[in-house]
Amino acid sequence: MKTELSQKLFEKANDLFPGGVNSPVRAFKGVGGTPRFIARARGSHIVDVDGNDYVDYVLSWGPMIVGHCHPEVMREVQDAMKEGSSFGAPSPREILLAELVRERMPWVEKMRFVSSGTEATTSAIRVARGFTGRDDIVKFDGCYHGAGDPLLVKAGSGVETLGLPDSPGVPADVARHTLTAPYNDLGALEKVFEAKGSSIAAVILEPVVGNMGVLVPRPGFLEGVHALCRKHGALFIVDEVMTGFRLSAGGACGLYGLRPDLVTFGKVIGAGLPVGAFGGRRDVMDRVAPAGPIYQAGTLSGNPMAMAAGHAALKLMTEAAYRKLETLSAALADGLVAAAAEAKVPVQLNRVGSMLTVFFSDRPVFDAASARACNTRRFGAFFHAMLEHGAYLPPSQFEAAFLSTAHTDDDVARTVAAARVAFAEAAKVA
Ligand SMILES: Cc1ncc(COP(=O)(O)O)c(C=O)c1O
Repeated sequence: MKTELSQKLFEKANDLFPGGVNSPVRAFKGVGGTPRFIARARGSHIVDVDGNDYVDYVLSWGPMIVGHCHPEVMREVQDAMKEGSSFGAPSPREILLAELVRERMPWVEKMRFVSSGTEATTSAIRVARGFTGRDDIVKFDGCYHGAGDPLLVKAGSGVETLGLPDSPGVPADVARHTLTAPYNDLGALEKVFEAKGSSIAAVILEPVVGNMGVLVPRPGFLEGVHALCRKHGALFIVDEVMTGFRLSAGGACGLYGLRPDLVTFGKVIGAGLPVGAFGGRRDVMDRVAPAGPIYQAGTLSGNPMAMAAGHAALKLMTEAAYRKLETLSAALADGLVAAAAEAKVPVQLNRVGSMLTVFFSDRPVFDAASARACNTRRFGAFFHAMLEHGAYLPPSQFEAAFLSTAHTDDDVARTVAAARVAFAEAAKVA
């Protein structure tokens, strides 16, 4: 496979951007090698600058649920652009998208549009703190909620461990207000609440984790977290940046029957344009400026082209579209499991709907610790062999692969054929 042009561009990029990229995970650090520079995309395929064509399972890290360049999305965005690309004033397309969101997720009684998932989660945390008058928040080890200071904290080992900043530049004074607990462990969360309950403003979680690879919530876990929040007067924030409008029309909350206090969105809600949103209980959202005193603002928030893209994509996501995604995803998962078994490579395939991860482990993977125990060298060999054979997976063991409604049975067959070779390569690695 030719990669000269990607390599040349990466050399230039390294001189222009830290690590050659504008967002870290694109740099292939988890698997080694040179990232491919993408020239164009269409449907379920992307093509790099050297002309290599791949079935795309990254989908811009999730947003492209109807595939790349869907004609309906392009048409609505072009219409919006012709009318003006930004006004800094209210415009009708904000209402159209918001009404669609609330129709599918009635628990989002009021919302605010922002421009990224990070903006959505950091804003939701501020709102929870402002509403409750409390400073501490709880997150789970391995859940990623964007690059904002209060959420860039990893778990310590003990249940009551005060957060340690995950990055230089996050003040220890900020991080100490972020408490952590292991995902899928209600007992641990209960202990955090017993110790600090009256100072906890909110618990935030990924309802299905995508950022440690896919981790599936155990039966009763999500409901249990919500019950503990209620008992202690904390808000329950479900971060649906990845799962929202992907796992069902009602997102993960719709799938698991949750009615959270606040929800955050990103990715699919903008169909590839920069959009995020947070929303939920009317009494909480009415505390947000200018209705209330909790400040939140954005020059490009509710941008008409971004609203148009989200609106077009959500309209395309009918019940039949979700059924198609489920059938394709199940077929891919079955094919990958069979290919791994053929190559005698022990794997765990975690999947919810159109999010899936192949973990190189012989034990169930259900939290950050069991995910970290996976064989990342094997994953690296598997990833590169898949790439070589035309399947573009996320370049890390700790990420979710996504499918779109543009994927076809042929794409899945081509991917499973590549996986037969790739698992055989992985088997050679200790
Ligand atoms: C669950 C979750 N929350 C928040 C974010 C941050 O979103 P963004 O990258 O748009 O800022 C991400 C990004 O991957 C995410 O997966």
